[in-house]
Amino acid sequence: MKNLMTWGLILLMPVVSGCRKGRSAPVGVQHLRCEYLVNPLGIGERRPRLSWTLESSQRGQKQTAYRILVSSDEANLAEDRGDLWDTGKVPGDRTNQVVYGGQPLTSRQRCFWKVQSWDKDGRPSAFSPPAYWTMGLLDPEDWKAEWIRADRRPPESRIEPLAPGPPPPYFRTEFAVQPSLQRATVYVTARGLFELRLNGIPVGDDVFAPEWTDYNRRIQYRTYDVTELLRPGKNGLGAVVADGWFSGYVGWRKNRGNYGLENSLLVQLELDYADGSRASIITDETWRWAEGPIRSADLLMGQDTDARLAMAGWDAPGFDDSSWRPVQAAEPTGAELVAQPSPPIRIIAEIKPASVNESRPGVFVFDLGQNIAGWARLKVLGRAGDRIKLRFAERLNPDGTIYTANLRDAKATDTYTCRGGEPEVFEPRFTFHGFQYIEVTGYPGEPGLDAITGCALSTACPETGVFQCSDPMVNRLFSNLIWSQRANYISIPTDCPQRDERLGWMGDAQIFVRTGSFNTDTAAFFTKWMQDVADAQSAEGAFPDFAPRLNDKVLMGFEGAPAWGDAGIIIPWNMYRVFDDTRIIQRHWEAMKRWMDYLKRTNPDLIRRRGVGNNYGDWLSIQADTPKDLLATAYWAWDARLMARMAAVIDREKESAAYAALFQEIRRAFQEEFVLEDGRIQGETQTGWLLALAMDLMPENLRPRAADRLVADIRAREGHLSTGFVGCAHLLPVLTDAGHEATAFGLLLKDTFPSWGYSIKHGATSIWERWDGWTEERGFQDPGMNSFNHYAFGAVGEWLYRYVAGIDLDEEIPGYARFRIRPFIGGGLEWARAEYDSIQGKIISGWSRREGGISLEVRVPPNTSAEVHLPCTDRSEIQEGENPADRAEGVMFLRREGERIVYEVASGTYRFNFPLSRE
Ligand code: BGC
Repeated sequence: MKNLMTWGLILLMPVVSGCRKGRSAPVGVQHLRCEYLVNPLGIGERRPRLSWTLESSQRGQKQTAYRILVSSDEANLAEDRGDLWDTGKVPGDRTNQVVYGGQPLTSRQRCFWKVQSWDKDGRPSAFSPPAYWTMGLLDPEDWKAEWIRADRRPPESRIEPLAPGPPPPYFRTEFAVQPSLQRATVYVTARGLFELRLNGIPVGDDVFAPEWTDYNRRIQYRTYDVTELLRPGKNGLGAVVADGWFSGYVGWRKNRGNYGLENSLLVQLELDYADGSRASIITDETWRWAEGPIRSADLLMGQDTDARLAMAGWDAPGFDDSSWRPVQAAEPTGAELVAQPSPPIRIIAEIKPASVNESRPGVFVFDLGQNIAGWARLKVLGRAGDRIKLRFAERLNPDGTIYTANLRDAKATDTYTCRGGEPEVFEPRFTFHGFQYIEVTGYPGEPGLDAITGCALSTACPETGVFQCSDPMVNRLFSNLIWSQRANYISIPTDCPQRDERLGWMGDAQIFVRTGSFNTDTAAFFTKWMQDVADAQSAEGAFPDFAPRLNDKVLMGFEGAPAWGDAGIIIPWNMYRVFDDTRIIQRHWEAMKRWMDYLKRTNPDLIRRRGVGNNYGDWLSIQADTPKDLLATAYWAWDARLMARMAAVIDREKESAAYAALFQEIRRAFQEEFVLEDGRIQGETQTGWLLALAMDLMPENLRPRAADRLVADIRAREGHLSTGFVGCAHLLPVLTDAGHEATAFGLLLKDTFPSWGYSIKHGATSIWERWDGWTEERGFQDPGMNSFNHYAFGAVGEWLYRYVAGIDLDEEIPGYARFRIRPFIGGGLEWARAEYDSIQGKIISGWSRREGGISLEVRVPPNTSAEVHLPCTDRSEIQEGENPADRAEGVMFLRREGERIVYEVASGTYRFNFPLSRE
């Protein structure tokens, strides 16, 4: 009863305090983050940045001052003592990117913190609930552990292409814990991938660490609090180390060992006792190793496990390891050991199969109903030695068998040999596949649907965006692009999760970054990857085509490609715009400048023809060939413009002016070279016009004509697009900005070839790499390059958020401190709605048709304001709630803009009703 009462009160509270005339509580402070992460362990930044959001049910609420307390001790913090940092009352509305400025932080430092905020009327909030972070090992000297490895002959698999690597070694040690243990923290990494286990229990729920970097330069370690896993007396610590990106197959190289062939392990477990003493359990030559049930494991090839070889208790104390061998010291590394700044990879969803079919006798094909990246969990009751084989595919052949031709050299096969006797569950740990279908052979008897579970893996960035509307096909499109993002944001932004590729292709990443950053909180993810990009820059200043680089002679040459290398500029720009992150600009400023110098040096005549590497052009366009020099020069101009703005942000006024001038020069050269006086553009392709319009390269007076020509080209193709990767992101935004939103909606809703809808009509559950990945006339495209899970064409998601729902950034102010709601109503949609959890809090824009017009719901988070652009010409007819909009609290008429009326709206929730000006 008491519980019910409390619930009742909680539920009622916002309603009561939300009453606009009544007295309301000051703001609440919540969602504390350090370096974009909630309660992170092992931070590597010596001056981490802090963020929070505000909650209030009152309109127009904002922060006028804040106070941050950071304490080395929880009890101190509870008593409002910030021995590490007490900012005092700091005037201002900043709620994110507050750089820690207290006592210097040292390795292992524990930091407990909370925030108080003063509202618009100067009333202080309560302190937020406490949060924490800990510092990692900041200095090389902090590492006492030694790299260890199995004492076997270095493998020679380099010689035999596509051969499996040796069985992953299992390492173990035992140690004693005294009763007065206060805290245990383990710092761990590997060359290869590790799974760490304490007393029989896996440490952490993340997989594939250390994640992909150029391991010769930088190796990330992870930090875990393992206090709860230890007990006084004897304890057992074990680790398995498999190949992964370090020594396994990556890309389409047929050889293992891109960064090395010898896997090794580094573990430092620190036990802190009540008396202040510390004991360290470290990898050293006292550890022992053996081979175990995993016979081979590779990200691309799959995992082979023989459960008959299971060694019960190997990772717990008391195990007889007399038959295990002593380890050897491994070569030290010249790479820097760094904390992982991004969220880890985890299982983010488990999917039950929709159906299972026996495609041939004894061959069972499970359909998950969803294309994912991850693995399958298998349940089986068999006899010892029964060998079950799992193969993975995205599509089926017409005869119901799995289509694997597009996997190229990725074998994507897991095998499991049963121990027998009782029900067994197999789940691999060191591989992943891109698949919707699982082929099971060798299963004892007939598997039921519950024999297989699909486990979807992804970097666990918090999901922040959702779009929904009245059209099921568009909703499927949105779901498809979400799934392709999940499947491809795996440690780094990859191109695809299934074939022998899975590289951090820069073009794909920059084209999708804005969509991706609506869907999830990508700030920490791109903070990490941008370092990979910088690490991969050539001595001449060229950014690579993919990052991390592969240390392979042939693939080393992949650099400088237009729209790919330019991601080195575009990614920091987007992080600044979306998250108000200026540190990423500061940190990579010199690298970005080197890139700009490289472009200028190689192309003194301002047309970008040289230094363009593999020059992919408008990759995978359809029946249209955009001139590559045009595309390249447009991107260079755009780089210059973004550099001018970024320079201004970090107070480099002179450089800002120089880049602004460079933009104008390239613009002029572009016009002379590619633009004709009647608004035509060289090549006359959709992408050509799109780039010229999106990147402000058309002379002002020719813009309408250029847009008309773009529309005419779409009409001539009976309403179809011809854009490839580069053009597709700009297609609908440019059309809409030019007043052709009907054409944009037409493209969105098309389902004849080529279109987004065409793939959906033919069963797509993710975004296809190519418009013609499968067609009615020709079936599957050339299997040499035919992925069904590439997110680039999913960049249309940006338009759904920014235009259909209308949630967009302010032109000048970053990080949604001020933003725009400007929905476009069209395409016959009955309603559309997006929610986006910005760094300032949740923004909502949702509209629906009602008799005589439109009803628009808007949420503007506390401490922000928005311009709301209503497609209505008659101001007197606009109502907010029951009131004329002009007189509603928090709403102020600003101006008329074309066929819209623009209001300034303070934080709060609103409902505008209005008749549509036109459609
Ligand atoms: C990848 C792409 C990538 C491209 C470069 C392909 O093999 O899958 O997505 O951007 O190569 O053109």
